[in-house]
Amino acid sequence: MKKKKLKFRAKLNGKKIKTCVFISGTGSNLKSLISYSRSYNFPIKIGLVISNKVSAKGLLIAKKYNIKHKFISSSDKTKFERKCLLELKKNKIKFLCLAGFMKVLSKKFIKAFRHKIINIHPSLLPEYKGLNTYKRVLKNKDKYSGCTVHYVNASLDSGKIIAQKKILIDEKETEKSLKMKVLNQEHILYAQSIISIFK
Ligand code: GRF
Repeated sequence: MKKKKLKFRAKLNGKKIKTCVFISGTGSNLKSLISYSRSYNFPIKIGLVISNKVSAKGLLIAKKYNIKHKFISSSDKTKFERKCLLELKKNKIKFLCLAGFMKVLSKKFIKAFRHKIINIHPSLLPEYKGLNTYKRVLKNKDKYSGCTVHYVNASLDSGKIIAQKKILIDEKETEKSLKMKVLNQEHILYAQSIISIFK
């Protein structure tokens, strides 16, 4: 085990990849990523958090963990992306994780950032892209739901899939219970996906 850890560390050239997380809300995935990133052999460290919502609870999580964080308004998408790119450059960010970030990034932004961008989504993509996934899954009486980590392109929830976790839906499942089940799995899947990317 020790040998394996050392090998992994060597592959990273002794350095963790400086990462930014984009959020819009609660930030439970952010919190989980911060926690994973603090372990010795996790490949990324979180150096910046950007929210397009001033009231996002995730900003308080970043503050609590002493991580640089910024609110940037996205009411003008072009300005928002320009400001984000400046911050990413200024902070030498090499990897971007979207975690509950409720905007679709433009092709121009994705091309300009030039590093990897990944996202987590609460469904088994390509099924149920977009919002209200739990409601739609339950309405269709599906037997399974799940979550997906994927690379980001300029179409909504459509980039190449990195990993998925399937979850069995109970007969008495509610939106609330399904959300909790999926979120818990998201936290694990996001970390596993990041490890697999940098292996
Ligand atoms: C998650 O379900 C994620 O898949 C989706 O938005 C939710 C964000 O939750 N994109 P949180 O802010 O990480 O708690």
